[in-house]
Amino acid sequence: MEASLADWLRDRQRSMLRQMVKLVSKPGILSLAGGLPEPELFPTEQLAAAYAKALATDPRALQYGGTSERLKEQIVELASRRGIRARPEEVVLTTGAQQGIDIAVRSLLEQGGTVLLDEMSYTGIHQTAAPRTPEWLETPVDLEHGSDAEAARELLDQRKLEQRAAPDLAYLIPDGHNPLGVSVSEERRQAWAELLARHQVPLIEDDPYGLVWFEQEFAAPFKARIPEWTLYLSSFSKILAPGLRLGFMLVPEALAERIGVVKESGDLECSGLTQRAVSTVLEGDFLDDHLNHVRGVYAQRRDALLEALDRHLTPFATWTRPRGGMFSWLELNADLGIESVPLLERSLEQEQVAFLPGIAFSLPGSGAADRAKRSMRLSFSTLSPELFDGAVAAIARQVEQLATRHR
Ligand SMILES: Cc1ncc(COP(=O)(O)O)c(C=O)c1O
Repeated sequence: MEASLADWLRDRQRSMLRQMVKLVSKPGILSLAGGLPEPELFPTEQLAAAYAKALATDPRALQYGGTSERLKEQIVELASRRGIRARPEEVVLTTGAQQGIDIAVRSLLEQGGTVLLDEMSYTGIHQTAAPRTPEWLETPVDLEHGSDAEAARELLDQRKLEQRAAPDLAYLIPDGHNPLGVSVSEERRQAWAELLARHQVPLIEDDPYGLVWFEQEFAAPFKARIPEWTLYLSSFSKILAPGLRLGFMLVPEALAERIGVVKESGDLECSGLTQRAVSTVLEGDFLDDHLNHVRGVYAQRRDALLEALDRHLTPFATWTRPRGGMFSWLELNADLGIESVPLLERSLEQEQVAFLPGIAFSLPGSGAADRAKRSMRLSFSTLSPELFDGAVAAIARQVEQLATRHR
């Protein structure tokens, strides 16, 4: 049936990320590769009780049933923790933030339209936009301040000068960026907000890590700055558990019904049983204590990773110092001439240590390909703190050996 596949799919390689994840998920591997939350943090007891209660009290928990009004109110309350003032009418439930990206892309992107995004970004945006064969406009990123608003301004102003249409959408991850682990600085957030509003470019703001901050709350997201231009996405995956497959969008109220139709066309609705269970878990004080615990555990692991990087890789590379989320991004110095794919092969073979090569997060033909090729994403979410030193020392050993060969 190969020849019958739609053009965009026939020509498509399997996602490099998926191939890599498969390669590095073998037992016995010390892995900084996976992007998964720590399963020990899943509130299994609370969820077990909440699911049991939903099933015991009302068989309609298993019926088709639309959206729980109570859960929408609770989501509005959750969003207020990010400084967002929303109304229940603006909430669209999704099967995770990933479905939110898909719904937002299908709602905004024309066939052959234009997507503005970071030069290294979460691959979910690449996958969901691909069927529309878009033109990609890449914004440079740096490891301290995040997505470069000034470069985006030049791009958009130039397009306007050439009388070309503004992009159909922009996609940004304001905090705990996957894969970069960076947060967009306050100055750049403000500049981006003004730029998008001025050029009337709708923003998909992907914020699944917004409540996973460590020392200090993250700055206000775009939804709190330019709500009328923002489709905001978040999820319970990183704060409760990804297996719930429950997330949400906050959209301008005038669009909510039509965006709801896009959701419906995909999978009708989110599981009513899970909606009830999550709603029960969100009642009371549990979430506050739970979030504090989650932040504490990840912050400790982040510290262990950064200490190990400082100790073993200082002469060879630079990396992000994440203020939240689950990832750091490391770039090997260009003059070493080392690429991260062969480095991964050696690390796996000789050290049983894994990470994800940066190239997995850039588009084919990206202007940032050279940089991505000497980069890696390091996840600190699932290793216990005492394992980081050995894992990073092993990578450093392989870097040193390759560096000696290149000299
Ligand atoms: C930036 C980003 N967006 C979306 C997702 C998808 O999350 P969900 O489980 O909510 O679909 C992830 C998951 O890793 C992510 O890192």
